[in-house]
Amino acid sequence: MKGDRRFIKDDYEEEEIKLCELDQAKTYKGLVGIYVDESYITYIDGLNGKLYYRGYSLEDLVRDSSFEEVAYLLIYGNLPTKSELSDFSDFLIKERELPDNILTILKSYPRNTTRIELLRTSISALSLYDPDDYDFSEEANIRKGIRIIAKIPTVLAYSHRIQSNLPLIEPSENLSHPCNYYYMMTGKIPNNEFEQYFDKILICHMDHSINSSTFSCRITVSTLSDLYSGITSAIGTLRGPLHGGANERVINLMLNEIKRKENVIPWAQNKIENKEKIMGFGHRVYKTWDPRAKILREISKELWEDPDIIEKIPDPEHEKHKWQIDNIYEMTEILTDFMIKTKKIFPNVDLYSAGALHALGIPTALFTPLFAASRSAGWVAHALEQLSDNKLIRPRLRYKGDLDKNYIGIEER
Ligand code: COA
Repeated sequence: MKGDRRFIKDDYEEEEIKLCELDQAKTYKGLVGIYVDESYITYIDGLNGKLYYRGYSLEDLVRDSSFEEVAYLLIYGNLPTKSELSDFSDFLIKERELPDNILTILKSYPRNTTRIELLRTSISALSLYDPDDYDFSEEANIRKGIRIIAKIPTVLAYSHRIQSNLPLIEPSENLSHPCNYYYMMTGKIPNNEFEQYFDKILICHMDHSINSSTFSCRITVSTLSDLYSGITSAIGTLRGPLHGGANERVINLMLNEIKRKENVIPWAQNKIENKEKIMGFGHRVYKTWDPRAKILREISKELWEDPDIIEKIPDPEHEKHKWQIDNIYEMTEILTDFMIKTKKIFPNVDLYSAGALHALGIPTALFTPLFAASRSAGWVAHALEQLSDNKLIRPRLRYKGDLDKNYIGIEER
């Protein structure tokens, strides 16, 4: 009964009573263990170390599927038929190019900027060129989401190559999403083995339920803002070393601090004594092996045990370090063994992905953004799910400060 003042008053009082009840509740710092909504996208079994996308186990998807198929699965909720997959992949290919103005902006950004900042800023700018910008229907949001997933590798490869004074490589229309991404970053078309490894690494990062960046994305779209704003928020959140920035830190520690196998344990002991976190370990939800870490550990092992691959790592950065560092997989294993035995803390997705990406010749500056390129599929799926049954996400903070303080004029302070 709109307009009935009494109804509004009662309604308001009821709401106030609910809020008062909440005031008595415990404060959940960091929202540890809190369910904020229901979802049909991803299930994490933190006690048994299992991960499922739309009910399919990660292991099965990594073994048998592809980036394109998993992106479709996450977005639409079911595995595609052949023709659905073909249309979806064609759309991704068609949308790889960037508007000329975005390329001009990429060229104008200051040098020595992290690629993840460049990505965050560029995704925000890309919204201005999306033909569906002001269409908020689900169909338009899906099209926007696919465009974002398609364009992120191009933004990253272009930004990196501009920053590194390398010639730009235009997207190919004949390569799969992972293959084209690898090609634009490195300038080399990967052989079948590298393409498969790279595809599997991307699948491992595609979704992880309501992690911090996905939460940011869902919060942003819950205000009925647009999808690009949601993804921009997510990228900004992913940037932090407690979330997506850890893989870059891991490889830098290996290359610049640890270097040799005999240094691993003294280095780790020192960190623990100084109460410093060791990147690539620990997780809010997993209290055992992270299943992604297990898969990436296998990939890293296979790569680092193949001298033909390791002697020819196609990344100029590796040339600078290769005589000074031991086998990265073996150093990682020593670190894992130490952390599990002494702290009972297990590796997360970032520990082994660092060594695997390095062996595949991916430039270190693109490690964290690669996480974003892959996770974009999950963010899009979560934004769509949030909007399909939206409730503004707006928690409360327990105020601990003083009240009714005397205001003193500036002259008298
Ligand atoms: N190295 C050393 N100790 C660690 C640790 C790590 N990587 N991760 C957790 N711990 C310890 C903490 O010091 C804390 O010990 P305390 O209880 O004696 O103080 C305990 O384990 C709980 O850690 P906490 O940071 O409160 O857990 P969290 O759930 O808030 O944090 C992470 C989860 C991921 C943020 C945390 O494990 C971390 O910072 N890891 C390193 C960064 C990283 O790899 N991030 C990628 C995540 S996929």
